[in-house]
This record gives sequence, structure tokens and C-alpha cells, in this order.
Amino acid sequence: MIPQSFIQDLLARVDIVDVIERYLPLKKGGANYFACCPFHGEKTPSFSISPSKQFYHCFGCGAHGSAIGFLMEYSGLPFVEAVKELAGQVGMQVPDERQPGTTNRPPPDAGLVDAMATAARFYREQLKQAPAAVEYLKRRGLTGEIAARFGIGYAPDDWQALKHAFPTYEAKELLEAGLVIENEKGRRYDRFRHRIMFPIQDRRGRVIAFGGRVLDGGEPKYLNSPETPLFEKGRELYGLPQAQKPIRDEGFALVVEGYMDVVALAQFEVGNAVATLGTATTPHHINTLLRHTRRIVFCFDGDAAGRKAAWRALESALEALRDDVTLAFLFLPEEHDPDSFVRAEGAAALRQAAAAATPLASFLLQELRARCPTDTAEGRARLVHEARPLVTRVAAPLLRLQLLKAVAEASGFTQAEVESAFALQPEAPARTEPAPASPRPAFRPPTAARSRRKPPSSTATLLRLVLQHPAWAARLPVDLLPLENTEGTALAAIVDAMSTGDLAANVGLGALVERFRDTPHGETLARAAGELADAEFDEEVVEALFEDTLRKLQADAIGREIAALTAQERESGLSALDRHRLAELLREKRNLANFGKVH
Ligand code: UTP
Ligand code: MN
Repeated sequence: MIPQSFIQDLLARVDIVDVIERYLPLKKGGANYFACCPFHGEKTPSFSISPSKQFYHCFGCGAHGSAIGFLMEYSGLPFVEAVKELAGQVGMQVPDERQPGTTNRPPPDAGLVDAMATAARFYREQLKQAPAAVEYLKRRGLTGEIAARFGIGYAPDDWQALKHAFPTYEAKELLEAGLVIENEKGRRYDRFRHRIMFPIQDRRGRVIAFGGRVLDGGEPKYLNSPETPLFEKGRELYGLPQAQKPIRDEGFALVVEGYMDVVALAQFEVGNAVATLGTATTPHHINTLLRHTRRIVFCFDGDAAGRKAAWRALESALEALRDDVTLAFLFLPEEHDPDSFVRAEGAAALRQAAAAATPLASFLLQELRARCPTDTAEGRARLVHEARPLVTRVAAPLLRLQLLKAVAEASGFTQAEVESAFALQPEAPARTEPAPASPRPAFRPPTAARSRRKPPSSTATLLRLVLQHPAWAARLPVDLLPLENTEGTALAAIVDAMSTGDLAANVGLGALVERFRDTPHGETLARAAGELADAEFDEEVVEALFEDTLRKLQADAIGREIAALTAQERESGLSALDRHRLAELLREKRNLANFGKVH
């Protein structure tokens, strides 16, 4: 793990303007610099870079972050690589990240990486000497060029072919890498025999696993490497290294189910496809792809199994959703998979279908409607009930609003009613009634349906004020921060980091947000920073607003204490001390209220 102090030093040393200028032409406008946003197509520049905050923000698509964040987004680099790249640009040396006792994943075992590379080379060589395998690939329409691009090989029909590839067949790496299997007697044999070999590569192109397809009708059709220290199925996407650039160029990623689909699509110059490896789509997959693009199209077969897989992908996606991201679902005609579709209909038809894919919100509503027929009152209520756990998992505010509206429209309730139903309904059944025999609406229409959208809480406002002026964190009354909401705990964490010198008082917004990346406050802060960048407080009034908000925070705290004491008074009476305290609190409350009138 790279020490946080190094990251803070690095961000204090680099200038985000210099960093971004290497990639985009910038224009100065007032205190900030502007460019056309590289993350969404646009003709007028709405991408702004603030040298004082060391933060970038796009008013068009909402992208924002520090210099590190920019490199991650723009170049698709993982965090550590982005830090290294940035450090290289200013001649700083990244301290050794392999410190014992850190929670980082251990570096992949070099021995295993070597073994996989050796095996991949061997299988590739073997393909040249196996006419039947070459014939098979040709029959499936693949050229030598595409086979080479994906490193496709052939595992010979031999129990111990890898003996010819490795100096010692007994080396422990072969077993650990899943290349050989050991029987009870300790005798080893090759896992993959007489199969077309698809090497699975990580983002950087290192071979971490294989998928092997039979040439005839044997079973299983595809044999995959087991999970190893190098290979965790739910994280990896087949074809990612080859697809990275095309994804960028095409502006979207296409997620398919099979090895052959990826390769066949590439053969038809649809290079932006990747495949999940015989598993459902996971949030990891989605987050990986979102580093490269803002649009993901999931491609599924048109049958019931395809819709089921699509629904699972939707469920994994909800939390990863952002307002600047579109996810869509493409259902192929029932008889087709992407491979056969592109051969039958061509690349243009596939691109067109991908462009017209069903957006996530529509798919969600379609499915809900199919499950909860909206021609009865019960069905409509059930629709709201079933939508709730899905919609409430969406953190992206605009998308969530869009879903709310759609649910309201489908169910015939007003948006406010749906909203308060979502908020009011307890997680677990609050009543202990026996389950009703006949289906009954599990959702009670709210009695107070007129509930309005809540104004931002004092802590939410304070957080944005502190992000605009990080030094003001020192003025926060830590004991009054409500720790049951995310903004309150984030503020407390900022104060804490500053008090220990972990965070400089004059820290820029970019470095501040960076300090909390991968902590429980990371998302709250990134979100608040993005909102702030969209609508900064006017510098003329920001100080007064901060003072006001602090008073409001104080009033809230006093109010809570008064309520608690009054309740106690009603129930069991108050001690003399508590009575005294209550009188004092009421006096303070009056003072605060009077202050409000004077100003
Ligand atoms: P499919 O059965 O749809 O195969 O499995 P496919 O991709 O169309 O392959 P071809 O066209 O018959 O060659 C889709 C994916 O599910 C996984 C593989 O990742 C495969 O690409 N799978 C399938 C397995 O892991 N094992 C199997 O036995 C079958
Ligand atoms: Mn197929």
C-alpha cells in the first residue's frame, strides 16, 4: 500500500493543470481552465480545472476528481499505476508498496505468471502443428491474425504434453497454476488435453488462466482453469486487454457470455466486446468497465435464460450506477448468440442493435410490470413494493429520480407517494400478523402523502462548505456532529485527519478527496465534491452561511436534547439537575432564535 503521506506530498507537488494539459488542449477562463470533456462527446468546453482546488469537474457529465483520478479515468489506469505515472512525471520515487501487514492483495506470484506464460507459448506453438485444430478454427471463421491477437493455442491430445514445455514437470507452480492435476497416487497429468486454448489475460496482458474448448462434441464443452492466486473468476473479463482501445474508440463496452463470441466479434471488427467467464456479471466487472467507458451494453440471448442472466447483471449494477453512466441490455433473437448473429447479420446490424439496446431503467420497469401486472390495485402496489429494494440501492441521484418517476407512472401513485412509501416502509415486517392467505398488497399507501423532498441537512451543507474551504474544518464543533449520518462522519474524519497533521489545513479539494479514497467516506466526499463543483457557494456569503449552519447544527443538538429531557419528564420526571439543564437549554434555544432575528 502506498502511504497516504506520499500521496498527499505528490498531490501538493504536481499541478493538475500541467497533468491534464498533457492530454487535452486547455483554455484559460477566469481563475480556471477549460477543455472539451474527454469523458463525453461535446463541442463546447464544459470541463473545468481549478488550479486552486487542484480538482477537475465537468458540468456536462459530472465527471470530477484529483490529478490521480484524472489519470485513472482518462488512461484507464488502476490507482497504484496512476500514482506511479504521476510520480514519474514529477520525478518522485514511489515508496515500496509491498509492506508487510498491509491489507493489499499480495502481488501475484511471479512463478505462477511465468508458468502461465510458458504454457501459453507452448499451446500457441502446438497449434501450428495441429492441422485438425487449425481446421476447426477456420471452420468457425477465424483468421490466423485474430487467432494470434487472442493468443489462441492448442493443447495436444497427450496426458503429459507440458513435460515438453517445462524443465521440471514436477514443479509446484504447475499444480498451483492449475495446469496439471495430481491424482491420489501423486501422479500428474495435464488438465487441458485436445482442446482449443483461449488464454485469459489480465488488463495488462498477462496470462492468468485458460479456457479450453473441445473440438468435437465432448463434455464439458469448455474447461476452465480453477481459481488460483492469479485468477479470480468474478473479477476478470475475457478479452479486456484487446478491447480496451476499441471500447474507448466506440464509446461503449459490449459484454457477452462466451469466448467465441468475443473472438468472432473481433473478427468482424467489433473489437469492444468482453466476456464474463461462465459466471454472472459482478459489480467488479462493472466497475472495471466503468474505468474505460460510460456506456455498457450487456448482450444476452433472447430466451428466458438470457433474461434471467440480464436481471442478475442489473442487480449487480445498481450500486455501481452513476448519473453519467448508461447501462443497456441487448436481447438477441432467440436462435442467436453474438457469434452467430454477427455472422448472419453483419457488424453494422450488431452496432445498430447495441445503439438501440434497452436502457436499464426501461428493462427494470419492463420486468417489474411483467411480474406485477398493473391492471389490478394489488399488482400496482406490489410493483412499488418490489421496486423498493432495487431503487433504494441506486445512489446516483438523477437516475434514482428517474426510476422513482417511472415506478410512480407504472403504479399510478404520485411520485411523492412512492417516495414516502420507499422511505417509510420498514425493512422487516413490523407487525407480527400471520401471513395473509391471499395475496394482499404488502405496501400501505402512505397516509401523509404530501411529504416534500427534504431540504439538505445542516451536515450536508456543512460538508460542502468545508470542501469549499477545507481550513474551516478546524472551526467545527466535533461533539455536535451527528455521527449517524454519512456527512457527519465524513466531517469528523476530516477534522480528525487535520488534527493529526495527516491532512494539511491548506489542502486542495483534489488532495482532500484523494485522502479518503477507499475509506468508508470516499464516496460521500467524492459525491459532495462533485455537487459542490457544480454549484459553489458565492464567496460573498459563504462565511455567513458557514456561521449560520454552525448555529443550525447547534440548534439541532439542543433540540434533540430538549426532546429527550421532555420525554423523560413525561415518563418518569426529572432530577433537579436535569430540570436545571432543561431550563438552560431552553434559554440557549431562545438566544439562538433571537440571534436569527437580529441578523
Ligand atoms: P456457450 O455454451 O453459450 O458457448 O457458453 P459459446 O460461447 O456459444 O461457445 P461455442 O460457440 O459453442 O464455441 C458460453 C460461455 O459459458 C462458459 C464459457 O465461458 C462459454 O464461453 N462455459 C460454457 C463453460 O465455462 N463451460 C461449459 O461447459 C460451457
Ligand atoms: Mn456460440
